[in-house]
Amino acid sequence: MERDNIKKLNELRDKALLGGGEKRIEDQHKKGKLTARERLDLLLDPGSFEEIGMFVQHRSSDFGLDKQKYLGDGVVTGLGRINGRPVVVFSQDFTVFGGSLSEAHAEKICRIMDTALKLGIPVVGLNDSGGARIQEGVVSLGGYADIFLRNVLASGVVPQISAVMGPCAGGAVYSPAMTDFVFMVKSTSYMFVTGPNVVKTVTHEDVSFEDLGGATTHATKSGVAQFAAENEVQCIESIKKLLSYLPSNNVDDAPVFESGDDPNRMDETLNTVVPENPNKPYDMHDVLKKVIDNAEFMEVHEQYAQNIIVGFARLGGRSIGIVANQPAVLAGVLDIDSSLKAARFVRFCDAFNIPLVVFEDVPGFLPGTEQEWRGIIKHGAKLLYAFCEATVPRITVITRKAYGGAYDVMNSKHIRGDMNFAWPTAEIAVMGPKGAVEIIFKKDIEHAADKEKALEQKIQEYREKFANPYIAAERGYIDEVIMPSETRPRLIKALYFLENKVDANPKKKHGNIPL
Ligand code: HXC
Repeated sequence: MERDNIKKLNELRDKALLGGGEKRIEDQHKKGKLTARERLDLLLDPGSFEEIGMFVQHRSSDFGLDKQKYLGDGVVTGLGRINGRPVVVFSQDFTVFGGSLSEAHAEKICRIMDTALKLGIPVVGLNDSGGARIQEGVVSLGGYADIFLRNVLASGVVPQISAVMGPCAGGAVYSPAMTDFVFMVKSTSYMFVTGPNVVKTVTHEDVSFEDLGGATTHATKSGVAQFAAENEVQCIESIKKLLSYLPSNNVDDAPVFESGDDPNRMDETLNTVVPENPNKPYDMHDVLKKVIDNAEFMEVHEQYAQNIIVGFARLGGRSIGIVANQPAVLAGVLDIDSSLKAARFVRFCDAFNIPLVVFEDVPGFLPGTEQEWRGIIKHGAKLLYAFCEATVPRITVITRKAYGGAYDVMNSKHIRGDMNFAWPTAEIAVMGPKGAVEIIFKKDIEHAADKEKALEQKIQEYREKFANPYIAAERGYIDEVIMPSETRPRLIKALYFLENKVDANPKKKHGNIPL
């Protein structure tokens, strides 16, 4: 016969597993959402979850809360493994007070974040929360602040990944915003400071949940989310995939995978990928896929600022972070959004010792009042700053244009690029031929009998002189001009030699990135 104390424990456990109760679980499922525990089952290796704080309850008695207590208080926390590697997790339970954050709920999250820092393992947060628990008032705000502080202290020490899997408002969006990567789910997850009703009152705008803060909005317009998944299962699979590229902390190495892709593999088609006409676009993805292991690329911010491509891949089985201009979108120009996107990615890779490989084809910074008035100078400077301070192995491949300030910014030799390669198609100069000629030969062209012809002739001269990689190579700004077809083996070799690179910045409290 079961002893009373064993029976009690089993009863309590059963109760805790039900969160806010069967009816609310049913409602959650009806909305196309999984419960907090179902999500953890998908995320963690089977049998690996070690729950912490299953019996925690809130301590509030205002507004009748003393009569509404749920074991765990709306968040499931603990340790587990993902593909064999330890992580800490929290998963908010919308069936308990809408996953809202109480003092006790916050303490549970803080506890596992402290554990993550001590153990040097990533934090994965599955967010499904209406924000601060309104009935608890300032105590709940304090709880959020405790989490925000830990987000910042853990930043750059352990990877922090957030999935937003429900209608997250208020404080529930600021913690994810301070983590390294935000995943959202199309049609069921929302992020906003305040929802559509408050927006209507304050600004008189009529806007839907989806338009205001849905996954597509944040993955395309605001850039708040790096990933927008079709459904929760896909979202969780993507989190696992992302973690496979990352080390567990800032002093560990990322896992190495035997790719089966020959490190000496050449690809002759790369020799013709850049069109003969320099004004014609091509898709930089085609280049990347031919170079990296098994064409596997985990693109970050795939739908945001598509004139630059960032993401994770492997070369010779080792993780790399790729930053690549995309000539197929806005000619690959650097603007505010693309600078911010790339700067944040560069800093993440640098913080976690992931080598950077840059593919460059950039006509310069985007001119115009729209960009200037919004501060392209300070935002572009962020990307410059990020590359300048990075001490990880850094390699550049200039495939075509490297013009103007963008030449300097995109991991040039001058700002500590370790290996700077150029394809024979590279054009490295202060600006494109037409713009340059119109300035330096202005008078010659004006006085020419046939202005059109004179312009063409000067452009041709300029092109011959500057539209190549050899002047830069002569100076040592380019280490090697390489055959496009040999890019993969050259990069793998360079990364091998750079593996134990040691570099440092002057001792300081922290720099002052132009925010
Ligand atoms: C307490 C909450 C709650 C909250 C939801 N609930 N949000 N309880 N505090 N913040 C409860 C509801 O009372 C309800 O309880 C259950 O959760 C489900 O909520 P519904 O409204 O029925 O669900 P839904 O229609 O899906 O709408 C979800 C929602 C909405 C969009 C999140 O509930 C909402 O707008 N909540 C308030 C959001 C908000 O303004 N939060 C405060 C932000 S300020 P029952 O018992 O009926 O199941 C903030 C400050 C921190 O966070 C700032 C730091 C920088």
